[in-house]
Amino acid sequence: MRWMRMAALALCLAAPLGLAACGRSGPAKVDAARLAGAESEPGQWMSYGRTYDEQRFSPLSRINSDTVSRLGLAWFADLDTARGQEATPIMVDGALYVSTAWSMVKAYDARTGRELWSFDPQVNRAWGVHACCDVVNRGVAVWNGRVYVGALDGRLIAIDARDGTKVWETQTVDTSKPYTITGAPRIVKGLVIIGNGGAELGVRGYVSAYDANDGTLKWRFYTTPNPNGPDNAASDSQRDRMLASWSPQGAWRETGGGGTVWDSMAYDPTLDLLYIGVGNGAPWNKQLRSPGDSDDLFLSSIVALKPETGEYVWHFQETPGETWDYTATQHIMVATLNISGQERRVIMHAPKNGYFYVLDAATGAFIQGKNYVPVNWATGLDPQTGRPNVVPAARFAQTGVPFVATPGPGGAHNWQPMSFNPATGLVYIPVNLTAFPYIPERTFTERRQAFNTGVDFAAGAMPRDPAVRAGAMANTQGALIAWNPATQTEAWRVARDGPGNGGTLTTAGGLVFQGTAAGEFAAYRADNGRKVWSMQAHTGIIAAPMTYDVGGTQYVAQLVGSGGTFALPPGEIGRKGGGLPNVSRLLVFALDGNATLPAPPPVAARTLNPPPSTARPQVVALGRQRYAQYCGVCHGDAAVTSGLLPDLRYSAALNDAALWNGIVREGQLASNGMASFADALPQTDTDAVHAYLIWQANEDKRAGAAAPQ
Ligand code: HEC
Repeated sequence: MRWMRMAALALCLAAPLGLAACGRSGPAKVDAARLAGAESEPGQWMSYGRTYDEQRFSPLSRINSDTVSRLGLAWFADLDTARGQEATPIMVDGALYVSTAWSMVKAYDARTGRELWSFDPQVNRAWGVHACCDVVNRGVAVWNGRVYVGALDGRLIAIDARDGTKVWETQTVDTSKPYTITGAPRIVKGLVIIGNGGAELGVRGYVSAYDANDGTLKWRFYTTPNPNGPDNAASDSQRDRMLASWSPQGAWRETGGGGTVWDSMAYDPTLDLLYIGVGNGAPWNKQLRSPGDSDDLFLSSIVALKPETGEYVWHFQETPGETWDYTATQHIMVATLNISGQERRVIMHAPKNGYFYVLDAATGAFIQGKNYVPVNWATGLDPQTGRPNVVPAARFAQTGVPFVATPGPGGAHNWQPMSFNPATGLVYIPVNLTAFPYIPERTFTERRQAFNTGVDFAAGAMPRDPAVRAGAMANTQGALIAWNPATQTEAWRVARDGPGNGGTLTTAGGLVFQGTAAGEFAAYRADNGRKVWSMQAHTGIIAAPMTYDVGGTQYVAQLVGSGGTFALPPGEIGRKGGGLPNVSRLLVFALDGNATLPAPPPVAARTLNPPPSTARPQVVALGRQRYAQYCGVCHGDAAVTSGLLPDLRYSAALNDAALWNGIVREGQLASNGMASFADALPQTDTDAVHAYLIWQANEDKRAGAAAPQ
């Protein structure tokens, strides 16, 4: 079987027409046997985390610590969007499949970079207003000649791998709610598994399985209870358990409670278990969401399901009574570890909350866990149950007193994938070192086209006091941490100036690859973290690299392009260590590669030129509030962008009320991703935002060089 396929592959590569010949023998012919046996095809990268266990370890070793100094750019492809690039490419039989911003998909000849096809699902750009953290997409899945992508607007789409034409599409969400899809589908036993996002705005999370052939819905598992009755879904068996763990009152009854499965999944073929990572509560504020001490299942949990039916098998809740946006949606990994002399099949997880968990993969039982970054919301994990000992003051929603928590909502670790090298026994985690002031709102009003967190973003915005600002900046950093999951110790670290750096890849060549928000793409020795190679991409790197072999040459591919979580809401803090303009590209490296990148785009010097600020202080205050509620999540905290979307203090619309209204109320830039807010805010409020921005621009102009640009 395998030999025949190899023969077909050799034929297709030798054919003068290259991949055109492959087209006839069928590209992307991935199936269960092939995916389960991915180790025997070391040159391929056939699913999101390379293998079902999502270790992001490649057995390839031609590029290694001895040869890596010869690594150079083999080819690159410019992408036709200027938004964050988060995807991990997939490489099967000589073709590279990549998703980019706005859920577009491209296929390239993996050796030459020749574009084979391009697919645009035509997502309505105004839908971007529902995306918490940029209009990104983290990757496609391939199966039996097709490529599958989850579109930002909730569609799941099957594409013919031969020519990029659509085979089927199905809407996976209720489009009257602010759902988005940014995560990569996974395919198990012919079922395409897909989740969704939107818990910041207010939705109910679930994961669904569709028949890869025709898009028929096979099962759905909701991660929060339906207060009104069963759903006729696989999760109904858990409804009583879920209901008992929520308060009978609270905003969850309207919002759906959150718990979106927006990124991570893994599968263990031996145990036949699918693992899903469940997100934060909606709203974040627990007292408004589900008052009292309840755990609110399955928020912030890993849940194990039977992939064919969605039947519940076990769950482990990492952050009971979640209120800090501590999602458990970070990369889930399955591995066999030797812990205290015993071989264990385990789940490894480094979620936002700052603790590294090792769980029994068959039962979900807690084996061990420890904080991998400084943590102040809990004093540790119960050694028997793994339940965190939460510091009472951290429960800001219950005390009503603000609490500055470490880590913040960006997480100690976000969606950026980590990797595991069986040879070193180390997990390479892209870490954020951040804090956030959680200031509770007193009442809950669900706002359209806005975050509905029950946390006061206006009160928590970066203050103008230079000392506070300097402190916050100094406390915001990043790191690449090599973590030993067996001994729960840090083996080595590379410090980063700021958060929001790229995912990691590790290889049998004894290397770890990671890009940074500051545009450096580098290789480190997997055993000691010594940097052995680097290049400058002139744009932020947030995606994870991958590697493949075609025709005996090993390639490393990395999508580059600033954006994502730390490029939107955090403003000035998000610029720390990054802040480079977006240049969206796919870079592919090989030994002795000698392609060169074009010069970086010039950075235009800008000056603040606002009209005089004449509005009354109450109007400015209202505008500041509304800005923080409706605009800051894209245009940046305290009106400072991290560089991706326009910094409104510099907008020509500050001098031109008609232009302002045209954009903000009439949707003149909707096709570029700036939705109209006419249905969300009355004219008085958008006028107030205008007045606030004029005031803010004047303040910052007066402060001169001290002000952030
Ligand atoms: C979901 C993200 C998002 C949110 C939320 C958002 N915007 Fe925008 N906005 C954009 C994008 C994207 C653009 C750039 C469009 C383009 O490139 O033409 C933009 C552009 C603008 C511009 C034009 C900027 C210029 O260069 O002159 C203005 C003005 C603006 N937005 C105002 C607002 C206001 C006011 C709010 C809140 C009421 C808001 N935006 C909320 C995404 C957003």
